[in-house]
Amino acid sequence: MGSPQDFERGTEVSEAQIAVHWKEEEFVHPPAKFIGQANLANPDVVERFNEEHFPECYREYADMLTWNQYWHTTLDAGNPPFWKWFVGGKLNACYNCVDRNLAKYKNKAALIFVPEPEDEAVYALTYQELFVRVNEVAAVLRDFCGLKTGDRVTVHMPMIPELPITMLACARLGIIHSVVFGGFSGEAAGLRAADSGSRVMIYADGYYRNGKVVDHKPGADNAVEVAGQEGQKIDKILVWRRHQGQNLSTKPMVKGRDYFIDDVLKDFKGCRVDPVAMDAEAPLFLMYTSGTTGKPKGCQHRTGGYLAYVTGTAKYYQDIHPEDVYWCMADIGWITGHSYIVYGPLALAGTSVLYEGVPTYPDAGRPWRIAEQLDVNIFHTSPTAIRMLRKAGPDEPKKYKYHFKHMTTVGEPIEPEAWRWYYDVVGKREAVIVDTWWQTENGGFLCSTKPALNPMKPGSAGPPVLGIFPMIYDEQGNEVPAGSGRAGNICIRNPWPGIMQTVWKDNNRFVSQYYQKYCKDRNSKDWRDWPYFAADGAVLAADGYYRILGRVDDVINVAGHRLGTKELESACLTLTDVAEAAVVPVVDEIKGRVPEVYVSLKAGVSDGERVGRQVVSTLETIIGKIARPKAVHIVPDLPKTRSGKIMRRVLAAISNTMDTGDVTTLANPDVVEQIRQQIQGKGPVITKEGPEDVKRFGENE
Ligand code: WTA
Repeated sequence: MGSPQDFERGTEVSEAQIAVHWKEEEFVHPPAKFIGQANLANPDVVERFNEEHFPECYREYADMLTWNQYWHTTLDAGNPPFWKWFVGGKLNACYNCVDRNLAKYKNKAALIFVPEPEDEAVYALTYQELFVRVNEVAAVLRDFCGLKTGDRVTVHMPMIPELPITMLACARLGIIHSVVFGGFSGEAAGLRAADSGSRVMIYADGYYRNGKVVDHKPGADNAVEVAGQEGQKIDKILVWRRHQGQNLSTKPMVKGRDYFIDDVLKDFKGCRVDPVAMDAEAPLFLMYTSGTTGKPKGCQHRTGGYLAYVTGTAKYYQDIHPEDVYWCMADIGWITGHSYIVYGPLALAGTSVLYEGVPTYPDAGRPWRIAEQLDVNIFHTSPTAIRMLRKAGPDEPKKYKYHFKHMTTVGEPIEPEAWRWYYDVVGKREAVIVDTWWQTENGGFLCSTKPALNPMKPGSAGPPVLGIFPMIYDEQGNEVPAGSGRAGNICIRNPWPGIMQTVWKDNNRFVSQYYQKYCKDRNSKDWRDWPYFAADGAVLAADGYYRILGRVDDVINVAGHRLGTKELESACLTLTDVAEAAVVPVVDEIKGRVPEVYVSLKAGVSDGERVGRQVVSTLETIIGKIARPKAVHIVPDLPKTRSGKIMRRVLAAISNTMDTGDVTTLANPDVVEQIRQQIQGKGPVITKEGPEDVKRFGENE
């Protein structure tokens, strides 16, 4: 393995520093019982999806869908990097996930909802019931809200069945949904609503999390205010009630603006709304994610390509059959939930479990009780959840009689030790594991072992998935060869149907963020000249397995959730007493990474402790509790280059007790030693982390 210095890392402390030093692990072979029943058991598939057959290989995925009109061109790559997939085709995503399953499966559970309170009954929604409810909600969106095809709706909801119902109702009409993770603040939702131009927002009154009722509705008022400041008027807030006829929120409803959906629905009983045949290239949804600038970007996903890609990958890599009980513990507010709780599993007539709460509530046996009770056989979660469950209850899984055939890990690199616990204890050595690497921008998996065909290697995501051709480049654009032990930037050489269409309203950002870095000729019309830059570091082993090392840009991956350092810093700078702020990632045993904040104060401000507390509460209000820092350090000055650039790398090294390297060329080298003594000598100024936060951070994905 190469040394971390081989790897140009920008300002980030790199995952490379830890992960490159994991030793190569031995292969683990998939259990025979799994292979016997797998959807993808014939190795011929590799030939069908080889580079010679690109892009036509993707017909195989599109043919898993029902089309109103078949497409004429599989890939139109005439205007790179704005690819068009399945051109000329028409389809409806809701029809594919709901209506078409009625003929064979109308009595089968589509969704099973597990409320967090353990004494509240679990309930299953059959495909028929889902059909009825989605139609009625679609009628409300169309006839009560006046929404039409192409309009955007911001959905800020927790993990309750009404969330996928709302998404599918939007898809039925070709309304573009923009779901904002329920744990984000109302302000964050309001900003995203403004960017997307939503005039309707959909909320829930409240929900249960970690044994408490969370009052969610107040966020709506903040969202409306923030959207208003951005010039976007929100005229309607629809509020789902967690318990019909009760209100979990203390906030009054605003007359003429806020409506309980269950009240409105009374006028729409039995309504049926025809699914609109959408162009394959029509946007299906937006999902905002963090990037290198302060402003989150709206990843715009297309209908045909996205749905084909998630359906194909859910079938081959998640091994979903209609008779399986599949449980992905992510939150639907993240891309994993969109692709692999809602769209992929339902398009395959699967049964998808939705769990409202945190995995360790009321104790670390909860997921295994749920698995036993529902006879879940496919399980999907993140390394953070695995570490957390392992720490809180290493022997819990043994107490329960569930049997998984298949398990997934996603969202962060998983260290071989955690992988082994997942395999031996959670999976009881009966389940195959796929470590799936991908991103919000990608729609679906990019690297993963084919569960019945490839051996697993702990700590490696595995080979690229079918139809994906990656390459690792160094900073100069030279290929880093397999087996060299050197890390570089992983890129995907070819377009694929799940890739986002663009950044909402910002084509330039799409090009500059993802394609500019390695495009040698901006005028080229050949897709081969347009590799997709993923902003992840990776190492390619001689056997063709990729080990993903983590972000090379200003994104911190906290418990598998993306936070932009610039977003956090801009939030800190809203405080009048703060002169400068820098946010750095710190290694955390459970969550992978957590943010630490360095702040210098304006002249004359002396009460650092108070400002530190304000920084914490401001981050919670502007972004959400997920952005709560591990520590806020009030320092005399931030280390800077002579040109005034804040050296986050130096601060990150101090926070992670690593060597700061040569700092003599900085404008203010003395401050580095001063900060080092302050942090490593005396400990953080303010530490706001308790056991409850661990759960909060580790709750999803
Ligand atoms: C990281 C989540 C290692 C990676 C689906 C990526 C991973 C970011 C893995 C995207 C994995 C995701 N191994 N790292 N299996 N999966 N990542 O957009 O850094 O929330 O760029 O999408 O998570 O996070 P996002």
